[in-house]
Amino acid sequence: MANQNTQVKSEAAKYTAEKVSYAKGLEGVILCDSQVSFVDGLAGKLFYRDIPIQELAENSTYEETAYLLLFGKLPKRQELEDFKAQLKANRNIPNEILEIIQKYPKHAHPMEALRSIVSLLGMYDTDDELHTPEANARIAIKLIAKFPTAVAAFERFRQGKDYVAPEDNLDHSANFLHMFRGPIPSDLDVRAMDACLILHADHEMNVSTISCRVVISSLSDMYSAICAGVGSLKGPLHGGANEEVMKTLEEIGSLENTEKWVKDSLAKHFKIPGFGHRVYKYYDPRAAILKNFAEEYAKIKKEISEKLQMTELIEKLMVESLGESKGIYPNVDLYSGLIYSTMDIPKDQFTPIFAIARVAGWCAQILEQLADNRIYRPRCHYTGTLDKPYIPIDKR
Ligand code: ACO
Repeated sequence: MANQNTQVKSEAAKYTAEKVSYAKGLEGVILCDSQVSFVDGLAGKLFYRDIPIQELAENSTYEETAYLLLFGKLPKRQELEDFKAQLKANRNIPNEILEIIQKYPKHAHPMEALRSIVSLLGMYDTDDELHTPEANARIAIKLIAKFPTAVAAFERFRQGKDYVAPEDNLDHSANFLHMFRGPIPSDLDVRAMDACLILHADHEMNVSTISCRVVISSLSDMYSAICAGVGSLKGPLHGGANEEVMKTLEEIGSLENTEKWVKDSLAKHFKIPGFGHRVYKYYDPRAAILKNFAEEYAKIKKEISEKLQMTELIEKLMVESLGESKGIYPNVDLYSGLIYSTMDIPKDQFTPIFAIARVAGWCAQILEQLADNRIYRPRCHYTGTLDKPYIPIDKR
């Protein structure tokens, strides 16, 4: 209670003033110091730990890239072997959780299933409440190892098929495709999946990463923070856009309908999925790499060649209409869905695959946040009036 003689100060005027200026959607706001990844949006460049993404996509593997993100340097040969062995040793998820996944409703979106599995994994992991850097690093490895198993298990069960256990002889991407589909995957499928995972592994201050950082900033636990990341990635403005791209191609139906569809959509100010980005005002470098894979598939799988031609036409029309004027270019989601559908992956599993990749970045960003933490607590521009009395319920 303020002393009667004390003059009470108020900051209400400051936060309710009509002309308070702020960056809606935090556009351009610098959230933290970071060394994990950087987007040069005008140049269309992306770096993980200072290394250009193209070099990683061409030369690295997902496991090596995950190590780079987590530990800040490329591993030596033995370090990589040890890391891969730890990932393999942590791929299984507890039988109790598998039994629960079997009972999930088959109509559930796979991102809902994944979000729930992450939550369950936290309850079964005794490292979760230790809150030490060592325990958190172990959790990061467990999460990266278990995400593919979780996504594949839900897919098998909802299709009424048997669970396929992780196969130690297969690396991360090959093992995921094996657990998800059954057979040992082709070399092209493994190369394409590994490139997709590398390209989606981190992306600076995107909304799901911020969600993870915000949750961990209260010194909550890693699993809670990762649940927030999964929930955020699910949205169609973020990771859910790859699913929307495929739905759009199906809705357009044919190459001959495409030009009219784009023109009509632009006239209606419809935001076409797979285009535009808060930071990139030029080509997203990840889209160009994925387009190469889509072209490679189109040579051997005729069924995707029309969808590829449609996508290329949409790209041409969009860049002609909005490239220069609004900086709208293809983003990572434009070609990834095409690649996944070529691998016989259902549309609603595209975003969970994004999560399988991004969990490495989320973990790296969470560990970085914890190393120099300050709780996130911004303010709002309050647009109410601050002058209303409480009215008893029978007088309202
Ligand atoms: N198609 C057509 N026009 C677009 C598109 C698009 N995909 N994206 C933006 N624009 C236009 C907007 O209409 C707006 O025009 P205006 O100034 O005349 O009103 C202008 O470009 C700016 O758009 P904003 O929505 O304000 O941009 P913001 O930075 O808030 O949003 C976002 C970025 C969400 C990615 C947006 O471009 C979008 O909705 N794209 C489609 C969804 C998508 O592909 N998301 C994946 C992003 S990548 C990722 O998260 C993995």
